[in-house]
Parts: sequence; structure tokens; C-alpha cells
Amino acid sequence: MSKLSITAYTFGIICFIICCSMAIFYGFKFLSNDVTLEEESMEDYKYHFVLVPEELDNDYWRLVEAGAQKAAKEHNVLLEYIGPEQADNDIHIKTIEKVAAAKVDGIFTQGLNNEQFTPLINQIVEKIPVITVDTDASSSNRVAYIGTDNYYAGYLAGKALIEDTKGKANVAIIAGNLEANHQQQRVDGFKEAVKDEQGIEIIAIEESKISRVRAAEKAYLILSEHPEVNAFYGTSALDGIGIARMIEKYDQPSRIYVIGFDTLPETIDYMRKGTIEATVAQEPEEMGYKSIKMMINVSKGKYVPSIVHTNTSILRVKDVPLNDEKGDK
Ligand code: BGC
Repeated sequence: MSKLSITAYTFGIICFIICCSMAIFYGFKFLSNDVTLEEESMEDYKYHFVLVPEELDNDYWRLVEAGAQKAAKEHNVLLEYIGPEQADNDIHIKTIEKVAAAKVDGIFTQGLNNEQFTPLINQIVEKIPVITVDTDASSSNRVAYIGTDNYYAGYLAGKALIEDTKGKANVAIIAGNLEANHQQQRVDGFKEAVKDEQGIEIIAIEESKISRVRAAEKAYLILSEHPEVNAFYGTSALDGIGIARMIEKYDQPSRIYVIGFDTLPETIDYMRKGTIEATVAQEPEEMGYKSIKMMINVSKGKYVPSIVHTNTSILRVKDVPLNDEKGDK
């Protein structure tokens, strides 16, 4: 073999080894979840954060996402929104684990219950900052919580119901999920507000698993078993809507008082028709917006307060504009 062909042959072997090594390296990296779908474009961004909602296509969570995406755009952050198609704690937990394995710069999630979420958050927060949004796991080492003061929100609902029913009502409560921290707090705050009212009685408490259809079914069952019920309190965004649907179909809206949660367009429509009398207004967009700014400060090593409560207020029918201008947030 000539000297030239030996050199060419050696060069060929070296190239082959380099190609094989690269294929093996990137193959492993991909399989071990080290590479996220967005990595290609990461060089355009300063940070990569992920928001894990309770339910992906829930209108309430889309508002949190909208606020977060707005801040992300303003601050050059890549924000991914990944979560269960339908509310499910196990899928929620698995999603957070997967996101944490992808080594992002910050994770936003709810602290739905202390048993499942606290150990997971504590484990992740050793490496990646976690901010709880909407629902706190206060027993965890999360860096901060941003969202409604859920106990106070429940308390406000109770006081509004007392005022609107002149202190006389047989109440049924439909909660999104009675095992979730924020739903428990919304029920506890409500109970605290009505506890000294002789004329207010809580007749039944059921859960909707944050589904309109199930909220309607549960409300129907309650009314069949307890026809004396003349007021409903729905503690999450879709509960009041489900209750209102059922009442319009099977009962007389004027006989039953309904107070719900959140200001989704459907809720506002039922308020305009008078089927829902009041709702507890949260600020989901603000939660999303502020959470991004907070996480940027955490990434920069700046101080952030451990609890930031967004505003909560009662919206009544008289406060709802006749057209879509304001209420449909
Ligand atoms: C709650 C969210 C929940 C949503 C369900 C809202 O009121 O704050 O935690 O996921 O309702 O529809």
C-alpha cells in the first residue's frame, strides 16, 4: 500500500469512529430525556421554564398560561405548558418528574396535596427552583407561592352568601376535589364565615373532579335527595357552571341562589341571565404573569417573598356589564 492510501485509509477510520461516537452520545442523550423538544431554539432565550397546570385545556388554566406567556415574551423566556389532558394527580406528578429530568431552569406547579406533592417538590427543589401557583403546598420547601389566599376566598364567599340570602339558606357545596389543599381551604373559609349564622345550614358537600358535567350530576342528586336545598356554592371554576346548567334544565333559577368561583365567560353568561348570583373573582392572568417575573428573580439569586397573594373579590350580577367588554376575562 502506498503512503498516500495508508493516510487516506487512517483518515477514513478516524472519521468513522467520530461519527459513531457522536451517534451513540446523542442517542443516549435523547433516550435519557436530557434533550427537550425545545433545546434547538434555546440559544434564543435566557431561561427555560415549565408551567404544569392541573388540566391542560381548562379555560382557567389557559388564563394563567396567557399571563405567563406575556411575561415570558417580555423577558426572553421559553415557557412550556405541559400537563394532564384531564385533571389527574398521578399524571400531574409524572409530568413534573419528567420535566425535572429534562433539567429546565424553573418549574411552576400547584401543591395539590401535601402527601403527594410535598416530597416531590422537596426532591426537585434541591436542583431546580419550584414555585407553586394557584394552590400552595405550604409544608414543602417550594421557593414561593403565588395565588389566591384560598381560605380568605372561601370566607368571602360565605359572607357574600349570608348577605345575599339575608342569612337564611340551606346550602349545598360542590367542590372541585375535596382532597386538594385549596379546595379544602375554600370550604373551611366558607364554613368559618357562616358558623354563627342560625339561618344558614350546610346540607351536603360533594365533589365534581373539576368537570362541569359531574358538577351538574352531583347538584341534581343533591336536589333529589334534599329538596330543601335552595343555595349552592361551587368552589372551582367549572362547578358554578355545572350547577347553573342543571338548575336551568330541572329547577327554577329564581328559587335557588348560586355563588361560584372565577369569571370565565360561561359564568358571566349565567350571571347575565340571573342563574348565578355571585362569583369569587380570582386573578389567574396576574398569577401567571407575576410567577414568571418571580422565577427570573430566583434565577438571578435575588430575594423573593415566600408568599404573594393575588387579589380576590366578589363579583355580583349588578357588577357585570351587559356586553362582553369587561367581565369576560
Ligand atoms: C382553581 C383551579 C382549578 C380550576 C378548575 C379554579 O377555581 O383555582 O385550581 O384547577 O378552578 O376548573
